[in-house]
Amino acid sequence: MCGIIGYIGTKNAIPILINGLKRLEYRGYDSAGIAFLQVNGFSVSRCAGKIRELERSIRGEKLRAKIGIGHTRWATHGRPSEENAHPHRSGGIVVVHNGIIENFYELKDDLKTKGHVFSSETDTEVICHLICDYEKKGLSFRDATRAALGHLEGAYAIGVINESEPDRILAVKNDSPLVIGLGKKEFFIASDIPAFLKYTRDVIFPENGEMAEITTEGVSISNFRKNRKVTRKATRITWSPTMAEKGGYKHFMLKEIYEQPRAIADTIRGRFSLEKAGVNLDEFGLKESLLKRVSKIFLVACGTSWHSALIGKYMIEDMARIPCEVDIASEFRYRQPLIPRGSLVIVITQSGETADTLAAQREARKLGARVLSICNVVGSTSSREAHGVFYTHSGPEIGVASTKAFTTQLTALYLFSIAMAKAKGKLKDKEITELFSELLQLPEKVETALKIDGAVKKIAKKYCKVRDFLYLGRGINYPIALEGALKLKEISYIHAEGYPAGEMKHGPIALIDNDMPVLTLAPNDNVYEKILSNMEEVKSRGGKLIAVAVEGNRKAASHSSETLLMPETNYYLTPIIFSIPLHLLAYHMAVLKKCNVDQPRNLAKSVTVE
Ligand code: G6P
Repeated sequence: MCGIIGYIGTKNAIPILINGLKRLEYRGYDSAGIAFLQVNGFSVSRCAGKIRELERSIRGEKLRAKIGIGHTRWATHGRPSEENAHPHRSGGIVVVHNGIIENFYELKDDLKTKGHVFSSETDTEVICHLICDYEKKGLSFRDATRAALGHLEGAYAIGVINESEPDRILAVKNDSPLVIGLGKKEFFIASDIPAFLKYTRDVIFPENGEMAEITTEGVSISNFRKNRKVTRKATRITWSPTMAEKGGYKHFMLKEIYEQPRAIADTIRGRFSLEKAGVNLDEFGLKESLLKRVSKIFLVACGTSWHSALIGKYMIEDMARIPCEVDIASEFRYRQPLIPRGSLVIVITQSGETADTLAAQREARKLGARVLSICNVVGSTSSREAHGVFYTHSGPEIGVASTKAFTTQLTALYLFSIAMAKAKGKLKDKEITELFSELLQLPEKVETALKIDGAVKKIAKKYCKVRDFLYLGRGINYPIALEGALKLKEISYIHAEGYPAGEMKHGPIALIDNDMPVLTLAPNDNVYEKILSNMEEVKSRGGKLIAVAVEGNRKAASHSSETLLMPETNYYLTPIIFSIPLHLLAYHMAVLKKCNVDQPRNLAKSVTVE
């Protein structure tokens, strides 16, 4: 997730910008840059890699500036490199941006025909060219920016400075975070408060669709669509710097769980067209003609990503009717898999650097398969070595236990399955638009689902001293049982097992007694009645039942000691909604047991060794 900083005031802007960027490092980044005004105009310094590289590149120069903007880039469009690092510039306009401009391909083509030359692969660069274009037509800086914003679709927080009006910063917010810091004759803009907390605790949070015009005299905020001034009250921040980095959450894991509505919205942004009833395949490097020829799919991954793969099998086979095999990467690489012609191998990896997944990916290519990587990190090894990439755009995940990366992988698999089904003629346009409509409601439903947190915490209090935990699910939610169990053991060190509920009587039923909590996933699907029978089997043996079911389901409640009721969605998206209470349960149990939630013992975020 990119980080923005901006400063205007009486102090030297350069150390303030560098410091601000360092405070935003926790957001994850792969390149950085700053732009600041000197007597002869704006200077821009950028580099791939860490902020210390940026510092090194300007060290020794006697730089002073009263205004500047800076950026840490978490790549979304274009690999991490100096050219793709922000700030971007066109004429005298310099821009930093956090978010995704969905329609940048069209805007870029249009600007190119007008003679604009682009020097990066980013979506951001269209913004400065657009503003510059309007300025050339005689519009003021403010009006040119407003006019440019009128073209942008997507999510953005933007900072802009202009050589011809060097006494102001324009800052814009639309669905990406932006906060303004208020000092004495000095002002800051940033993606997050820690960037300037050292200098001021007084802040303004602009709302979506608002633009702030900032000079050393003050801040004027307006709605840029209606061109109407608005008043926003200042707030005093009382958080400590560490609390501020976590957005007020106690742990990164909890913050990331709560970021899911935004992360899912970013994953689906610009990825499909309701009118055309189709997924935009261009970005993934896969053509429909290729999908038509696919006769078998292999899904390969490790850890939580492997659970995504298991769910992906249910989605793809059901929607597109293509046989899928799922493998744990460390097994795939050594089992000499039989890969027939027409096979597509999908590797799923949050980091794009997991050693076993990369080895499996290389093996698949060696055996002649096309490889699609579902990955969160732009420029990672997996993304570079695959034929096509579906980036999940969920932003960096810091907590070792994967949450938002998992649910955005499932979102990506949902879109892929629809694309595949369309290519194979297995879904009608009407069915596809229904699937898209449900997907569009997903971020809001996840937001509603998160309201279960209080109830989950109570359950965690009741069970946090247990030694074992059993999770049961069936069908597409069976892998969610595995995921719930994995999370609990990873971060709370309670022994937990996930099982397909129908298999219970072939083993785990022997474990059930009065001390054994059993969490059962009971959505309203084709195996609902079966799951109720499994719940009966647990209940009659004295097990403590916790049911996760869909709103309005009284039957599940009557079968269990605790019931967590979740918003209803379609069959394929239920795993996303149902993973929320399970991730929260693991989180609260671990907190109650005073475990190190974000860095559990012996585990690593990215396992780059075999
Ligand atoms: C580690 C992490 C897990 C992750 C797994 C696969 O074990 O702790 O959270 O699911 O690696 O990582 P990947 O980056 O390939 O998805």
